[in-house]
Amino acid sequence: MSLRIGAIAPDFQAETTTGPIRFHDWIGDQWAFFFSHPADFTPVCTTEMGRTSQLIDQFTARGVKPIGLSTDSVEEHLKWIEDVNDTQNTTLTFPIVADPNLSIARLYGMIHEAESETAAVRSVFIIDPAKKIRLTMTYPMSVGRNFDEILRVIDALQTGDRHKVATPADWRPGEKVIIPPSIGDEAAKGIFPQGWEEIRPYLRKVEI
Ligand code: BEZ
Repeated sequence: MSLRIGAIAPDFQAETTTGPIRFHDWIGDQWAFFFSHPADFTPVCTTEMGRTSQLIDQFTARGVKPIGLSTDSVEEHLKWIEDVNDTQNTTLTFPIVADPNLSIARLYGMIHEAESETAAVRSVFIIDPAKKIRLTMTYPMSVGRNFDEILRVIDALQTGDRHKVATPADWRPGEKVIIPPSIGDEAAKGIFPQGWEEIRPYLRKVEI
């Protein structure tokens, strides 16, 4: 069975491009953006690694540590990072996990055998400081991920945690959020003294 939202992200030990890690210790009290890609020295993956590196300040500002994975070795990853840096105008500093025996990719359900028995698909796990999986996404090998969406969903998760709210479709930071149905009007008056817009009794929007 695949890993589900709400489950504790499985811990593992691995070699990475920045040295050996134990995953939970490496996450520490931060969030993690753990993402797999099919193979080093491939075009879509090269752009994704470059984009993640270019956005490192955005991840850091949100307390999020990126970490990649493919079923290649540390030596291959390190040679490939030189290409990523050259072609994507960046200096990649976050770790990429080596997983030549596929053990971590299998643990996280990143190998979709109908696509490839040896290469990972493009999986995303957003993991919180309690090591809980908060979001999963799976993209096919041929489609690069949307990193605006990855940052947006991190903003939505962190805003939800901070203010006990939900976020509507296409929400962006600064826009109104939703009072969850689990909070009745009486309780909402205490939590949101600024008041809210009631579109339906079950659809209440509030500025925070
Ligand atoms: C790529 O990164 O370009 C790629 C990798 C594996 C399959 C298809 C595309």
